[in-house]
Amino acid sequence: MDESTPRPIRVVQWATGNIGSRALRAVLAHPDLELAGVYVTNPDKVGRDAGDLAGSGTTTGVLATDDADAIVALDADVALYMPLRCDFDEVCRLLASGKDVVTTRGEFHHPASLAPDVRARVEQACAEGGTSIHATGSSPGFITEAIPLVLTSIVRRLDHLSIDEYANLEQRNSPALLFDIMGFGKRPEELGKKRAAHLAAAFGPSLRVTAEALGLPLDSIEATEELALATRDVQIAAGTVAAGTVAGQRTVISGMRDGVELIRFRANWICTTEIDADWDMQATGWRVQMAGDTPLDVRLEFDVPPERMAEYSPGYTAHRAVNAIAAVRAAAPGIRTSVDLPQVVASLGSAPISDAEAAELAGLVTAGGQDPNFLPVEADRLAEEHAAHTAHRGDDEAATGLVGTPSHDPNFLPVETGRVTGDDDAGDLQRS
Ligand SMILES: NC(=O)c1ccc[n+]([C@@H]2O[C@H](COP(=O)([O-])OP(=O)(O)OC[C@H]3O[C@@H](n4cnc5c(N)ncnc54)[C@H](OP(=O)(O)O)[C@@H]3O)[C@@H](O)[C@H]2O)c1
Repeated sequence: MDESTPRPIRVVQWATGNIGSRALRAVLAHPDLELAGVYVTNPDKVGRDAGDLAGSGTTTGVLATDDADAIVALDADVALYMPLRCDFDEVCRLLASGKDVVTTRGEFHHPASLAPDVRARVEQACAEGGTSIHATGSSPGFITEAIPLVLTSIVRRLDHLSIDEYANLEQRNSPALLFDIMGFGKRPEELGKKRAAHLAAAFGPSLRVTAEALGLPLDSIEATEELALATRDVQIAAGTVAAGTVAGQRTVISGMRDGVELIRFRANWICTTEIDADWDMQATGWRVQMAGDTPLDVRLEFDVPPERMAEYSPGYTAHRAVNAIAAVRAAAPGIRTSVDLPQVVASLGSAPISDAEAAELAGLVTAGGQDPNFLPVEADRLAEEHAAHTAHRGDDEAATGLVGTPSHDPNFLPVETGRVTGDDDAGDLQRS
């Protein structure tokens, strides 16, 4: 490497589930990152190439291992820690070995919400390794910290901030997720009571980060849940939802200050619109409303057809974590919150575009030829861009014709096996 060329940041991918495999794909395509290792728990994945696990259609030569010691011993700069469960010993070993950690695990959003002994251990490991750890994702993360902090940058008086998360799962063909894990189609009394408490634990610390950043620390976090029932037998992609069974779940996490709700996160999840409640649902995505001296009402909808949501949704969480790497690398040692870090800026540079983008580009080029409003010069530019990106993606992918053929694209994850459980990771729908 030329001495003037900065050394790429060497990254370990820890766990390759729904989010981890998408992060891995982003690392492989990132202009500033180099993959150093992949840790997996699933014995079937041991020895498989990272490109295979990422679904990137490339061979990287980096093989997945279940040897945690070998991963900790690697000469790497950062670990993307994305397992199903948090093991604080693992995290501390990574940090003490000199690897910064960026994680989608919810434990680290708000240091003061950690058990004091755990916090002390993690901070000690950071001090030993000269490293930092940061938790992020889409929700919590982007929608509970990054977006509210930007929106509130124009207020001088905040009366209330509400964040609604919407998901309509009627076209999600995942019976296990909807019926077994989330509990749709069950009678209300069959659903456990743990979900609201779990979401309070998952989202409360993140709401606290935002409130504290604004100088308005919360006194407590409260959680409630409402259920909506199907008004008739409904056929959805995953199966039948019988009349009178659970078809909607709305969980409200309230950040309380001086006896009133200051910040609210509300998860609105339905599997059909035929419900006995008027929840004013919007398309899958979020709505953020800010009341105060500069009121705002901002809607962020995932601009993806519902039947293709599973292909895209992991990126909303995984990409934020990957994009945070540079800021975390530059941070002072310790547990670093969204407020400690500078703005997370995506370094896209000469990275290959995604297959979906490539396909869209190809479509635009074709469409442009028939569109009287389409300037030829634009078509030429797009065609050139498309050709350049296709070449950049390398011989393997070009040869398999992945670019521009999304329906046959192995990069697209199969309809996922997301997790929304009552006892561990009952988080948002980006999990799924
Ligand atoms: N903040 C956010 O917006 C957000 C959104 C979604 C998810 N998350 C969090 O991100 C993490 C990953 O989510 P995901 O959807 O990718 O989960 P997932 O699909 O269930 O995958 C998690 C991976 O963890 C590993 N694993 C399996 N069993 C394990 C166990 N008992 N202990 C430790 N690891 C185990 C496996 O890795 P291998 O397959 O490689 O063996 C598995 O694929 C979760 O902790 C979740 O809470 C955060």
